[in-house]
Amino acid sequence: MAGARPDVSVQEFKMGMRYLAAAVNVVSVIEEGAPRGMLATAVCSVCAEPPMLLVCVNQVASLHRSIRETGHFGVSVLDERQFDTACHFMSSAATERFTLCDWDTLVTGAPAIRGALVNFDCEVESSVDRGTHTIYFGRVVAVRRSESGRPLMYHDGNYACLGPEPLVARG
Ligand SMILES: Cc1cc2nc3c(=O)[nH]c(=O)nc-3n(C[C@H](O)[C@H](O)[C@H](O)COP(=O)(O)O)c2cc1C
Repeated sequence: MAGARPDVSVQEFKMGMRYLAAAVNVVSVIEEGAPRGMLATAVCSVCAEPPMLLVCVNQVASLHRSIRETGHFGVSVLDERQFDTACHFMSSAATERFTLCDWDTLVTGAPAIRGALVNFDCEVESSVDRGTHTIYFGRVVAVRRSESGRPLMYHDGNYACLGPEPLVARG
């Protein structure tokens, strides 16, 4: 019975989630001809058949309404060399975020940041509201990969890089 369990506080939850290291992505749309976007770590693969991913967007973020209205979004998985792009996105107003980065479009018209490790272009398939956030399921209609690079990560409240060498399983 869920009611009998002790509540987990918002603080406890957030402290725990700090250790869920994640890749840093820009989720983006074209709205009235202009690129709009925000940083998001809550991006996850759903299934390969059909190709689908999800993004969790706070309902108070300006992009929430934009995704709902345009019906599409892009996900640019940032390379560690795009640390400055991430900082600029976080510190600037929604209308200024794309001023320092090079971008183009793939299929839907959503902005795809050039130099990202990979760009996914998605049509909104469905959405589910949960608490303060909306989960948007995106049917992937295009993928563009870079030749090389490593992801920009976020862990314990800071940006981080993966080590250069992969860990190799023993035994
Ligand atoms: C590293 C990082 C990851 C973030 N991940 C998410 C996320 O997954 N979902 C989300 O709604 N906001 C996330 N945010 C917060 C949004 O990027 C930020 O609140 C948003 O840009 C504010 O929206 P607005 O100024 O366009 O209204 C993240 C912020 C940072 C710094």
